[in-house]
Amino acid sequence: MIDVHAHILPGYDDGAQQMSDALIMAEMAADSGVTGIAATPHVLDDRIPDPAALHAAFAALRFALDDCAIPVELYSGMEIMATEKTPSLLAAGKLLTLNGSRYPLLEFGFSETAAHMEKILYAVQAEGFIPILAHPERYYSLQDMPQRAMRMAENGILLQLDKDSILGKMEKNAVRCAHMLLSERCVHAVASDAHRPNYRTTRLNRAQEYTALHYSFEAAYLLFEENPYSIVHDLPVKSL
Ligand SMILES: [Fe+2]
Repeated sequence: MIDVHAHILPGYDDGAQQMSDALIMAEMAADSGVTGIAATPHVLDDRIPDPAALHAAFAALRFALDDCAIPVELYSGMEIMATEKTPSLLAAGKLLTLNGSRYPLLEFGFSETAAHMEKILYAVQAEGFIPILAHPERYYSLQDMPQRAMRMAENGILLQLDKDSILGKMEKNAVRCAHMLLSERCVHAVASDAHRPNYRTTRLNRAQEYTALHYSFEAAYLLFEENPYSIVHDLPVKSL
């Protein structure tokens, strides 16, 4: 499996604070069958990290993984808190996509309206990117109107669920919305959105098993393996 959303880069956000946290998280991921992780620190448009410092941090984590013989490939990335400026910042190369692909990972405030999210996502699309909306199931507007998320998917926006929503560990409206989107077959990937070694972890195996059991083996393979692989290798993503 490949995890396209994890807060594993130490010291950059509310995820891993130290290298030791990141290494425990990576080891746990490997133990659960994950072979690659995109490090996606939270980034705000008005506080974009210095690219050289960020790439040095990715390199330091890669070196530590290698040094500890943890068999996980580390990919660059960001979880971008999207605003009106995001499309032009992406076009100018000031924000990172996942592993330099055409796929940026975007999030919004949980109380953002669906109309505003769509406006920004389509503007990002118009710049030639394929936006991935992080955890659609956690936005109140999409919980109230999941058909808006379905319309986004029909229009080429990729939807990434958090594995804890599938496992029933998020609040109940998010869990219900995640399962509705899965039932409607408009999900493209599932990721950990891991924050700590012991909280919202990097383990993906249970969520994949749950998906295989309650949906299908094909869904479990596509959402946890094939599509995440395609995303970090800049290949076309398939629909369920
Ligand atoms: Fe996240």
